[in-house]
Amino acid sequence: MIFAVHKSLFVACLFFLALFSVVILLLVYGWQTDEFVIPEIDARYLDTSLPTEVRIKSLLASMTQKEKIGQMALVEKNSLVSITDITSYGLGGLLSGSGSKPELNTVEGWYTMVSEFQREAATARLGIPLLYGSDAIHGHAHMEGATVFPHAIGLGATGDAELVEKLAAATALELKAAGVNWNFAPNLDQPSDIRWGRIYEAFSDDLLLVSELGTAYLKGLQTPGLTNSERTNKTERLEVLGTLKHYLGLGDMKWNSSLNKNFRIDQGVTVADEVALRERYLPPFEATVEAGALVVMVGLNTWGDERLVKNTYLITDVLKDELGFTGFVVSDWYGVHEGRKNRFMATIEAINAGIDMVMLPYDYQNFVRHLMWANRLGLVSDERIDDAVRRILRAKFALGLFDEPQKPINTEIVGSPAHRALAREAVAKSAVLLKNEANVLPIQSVVKTIRVAGSAADNVGKQSGAWTIEWQGIDGNWLPGATSILSGIKARVGDDVLLEYDVQGNFKDPNAKAELGIAVVGEKPYAEGWGDREYPVLSNEDLVAIERLQASSEHVVVIIISGRPLLIANEVDSWDALVAAWLPGSEGAGVSDVLFGDTPFSGRLPLPWPNHAEQLPITAGGVTADQTPLLYPRGFGL
Ligand code: BGC
Repeated sequence: MIFAVHKSLFVACLFFLALFSVVILLLVYGWQTDEFVIPEIDARYLDTSLPTEVRIKSLLASMTQKEKIGQMALVEKNSLVSITDITSYGLGGLLSGSGSKPELNTVEGWYTMVSEFQREAATARLGIPLLYGSDAIHGHAHMEGATVFPHAIGLGATGDAELVEKLAAATALELKAAGVNWNFAPNLDQPSDIRWGRIYEAFSDDLLLVSELGTAYLKGLQTPGLTNSERTNKTERLEVLGTLKHYLGLGDMKWNSSLNKNFRIDQGVTVADEVALRERYLPPFEATVEAGALVVMVGLNTWGDERLVKNTYLITDVLKDELGFTGFVVSDWYGVHEGRKNRFMATIEAINAGIDMVMLPYDYQNFVRHLMWANRLGLVSDERIDDAVRRILRAKFALGLFDEPQKPINTEIVGSPAHRALAREAVAKSAVLLKNEANVLPIQSVVKTIRVAGSAADNVGKQSGAWTIEWQGIDGNWLPGATSILSGIKARVGDDVLLEYDVQGNFKDPNAKAELGIAVVGEKPYAEGWGDREYPVLSNEDLVAIERLQASSEHVVVIIISGRPLLIANEVDSWDALVAAWLPGSEGAGVSDVLFGDTPFSGRLPLPWPNHAEQLPITAGGVTADQTPLLYPRGFGL
């Protein structure tokens, strides 16, 4: 009897041990070979005559779970351990994080680099092409020789949607020439506090202007894209894929709320306010989603007490279900995992909230492993993964990548005279004349002696701002093919005028006054939280240069090169004229076009200009925090 009991216990143990081993073996085997069953390839996805949705369906049916999950990974190209990981992990996209360039930073260098990645992707079982993303937020400015357009705040000042559409189309051509098929723009942020380091990335704090210019930019980039409603029954071939960013409420975070210890407001907290959501933050996304956007990037801010990246209500219920967004949602840089000890849980939460592609951007191996396990354990459903991949593939098909993964190289288009002329037009139209006493401007031809000073007069790096060659930009005179503001002035006046320049305003004979002094002053380039400043003011060097010019010239025009309105209330009264020229980019001559009246001033302030820091933040209606009057309201411009 005892023997019988022991025997059945023994058999039961053996049985469970065997079962356990089989499970372990299956899991290990399953992990290594990726899948127990590899689906047969349904080649209809390659048939260009079929509707896109049919092609997506057949491709999805051909994919293993690991191939699907790989599509959800977006990796910074320098994080690739080996180029063959593109195929072994089936990665969906690569990006050049700002400033991450090929060794040879020319159009040829870029094209060769991306082509190599695409060639690798093509060798995979299903040969799914890669998305290759970059932040060409003011032209493909990380690449030498590219046209650098004014940053978005300057475009907001032009208020010219047609112009914005044209320059986005030019940006698309320069990106495509470099092999890049995805741009992380347009930016739809609505900033309320100039202390934030990303003001210049936004068009305006006015949701109507943001919607209008955002739509124009998207159309220009995605030419000849379809609207969201047209897309269901037509096939398209976008030039370049656009991205609406940053979803949602970015720009309206509270000062000192940043979760990043290095920053003050960037990556901070936006108050979770349903009214503001409906009336303010959402409308630009609604307009651009309908205009045909296929990617939305979720911001690094926090909505109330929850990181946006985990917010199912905003991502799935509002964006996808309510707005009917059929494209994919990508998280921002390291946004899913930063500050999270449990990366497995962080991945699950983000994917279940509705993130379709994760900008990791580093650790793709663990991401794929974690999501495979989460899926096997039922923590992320098959349906959620299929939905995410379907959305990503939709964008890839819309780009025509399956039919022509890499377009032929076109070097001529990069920095072409036509593109530079367009940029110069945008520079002139973005300049806002804020003060003009004694009609100093436009400069008359009778003026024969001019002195120029200031840190931004002959500094193409400064006038271009960040996201130019390097993420944080360059403070210096190095940007191939660019024209500084000083060279623009020099070329305009020729030999007819005695033009003297000194960065600090030290002139040989200061007592013999020049008829006019032009001070071109401004901020050093900065990006993101590194530009958060409690008191955004002019530097002492620049203030001294202005004073010296005032002492040595009859009249002084101050031109401010900055990513935001600066606090100038203490100084502005002593200046004869003031121009806000924002961050004009490579075509500095556009500034002299307005100074000399070749193009009339037409720019208007895209956001209010405060008097002092206690006025911050300022509501979209232009009401200051301390209820005192602004220096200049939004829309102002002489
Ligand atoms: C920024 C995004 C950008 C991304 C990729 C992030 O730090 O917030 O705007 O698109 O990096 O470079």
